[in-house]
Amino acid sequence: MLKVLVLVSGAGSNLRAFLEAAQAENYPARVVAVGADRPASGLEHANERGIPTFVVPFTDFENRESWGEALLEVIRSWQPDLVLLSGFMRLLPESVVDALSPRLVNTHPAYLPEFPGAHGVRDALAAGVRESGASLIVVDSGVDTGPIIAQERCPVHPNDTEETLHDRIKVIERELIVRCVRQIADNTINLRELKPA
Ligand code: GAR
Repeated sequence: MLKVLVLVSGAGSNLRAFLEAAQAENYPARVVAVGADRPASGLEHANERGIPTFVVPFTDFENRESWGEALLEVIRSWQPDLVLLSGFMRLLPESVVDALSPRLVNTHPAYLPEFPGAHGVRDALAAGVRESGASLIVVDSGVDTGPIIAQERCPVHPNDTEETLHDRIKVIERELIVRCVRQIADNTINLRELKPA
């Protein structure tokens, strides 16, 4: 059974979908804990299911490095096989990435390398593209530059708002997360053997 620790910053709708999928008896992964860098409302999805949660507030620390050290200590205490960033909106310091990667993956609301960064949906709309998508990647020291585990396209409609497009993308993200974590658990996907992006 693959032990997964999820990190969120916001509402955690993708987290909720993953928790639901991971509850199925034949799913080969379990969420051992959910953490956040702030008192994120998404933690509630874990609390409701009796899954332990923790917060390591970024603002309690002098710098990114000391916050990262504290976060890593809590993560390690859960001994996860995989750490999933699901709407985690804070850059991890390189020391944390080095300690966890490649068993550190991130879901991103665009078809990378298109539209990296914190505003993947807004940037796609602003660029006027007809298609965007979602990607699941291994986290490396860059911003959304790591090896791509899986990605899928979706259409951008002429009347889309950031919200309607993001909702369409999240449906894909949820499928990618559930499918890829299953494949990581059963070794169909080997994170060490992925090609650099
Ligand atoms: C997701 O679309 C995720 O890909 C994105 O935040 C959203 C979280 O939604 N993450 C990033 O943009 C990271 N750069 P949720 O809180 O409803 O699951």
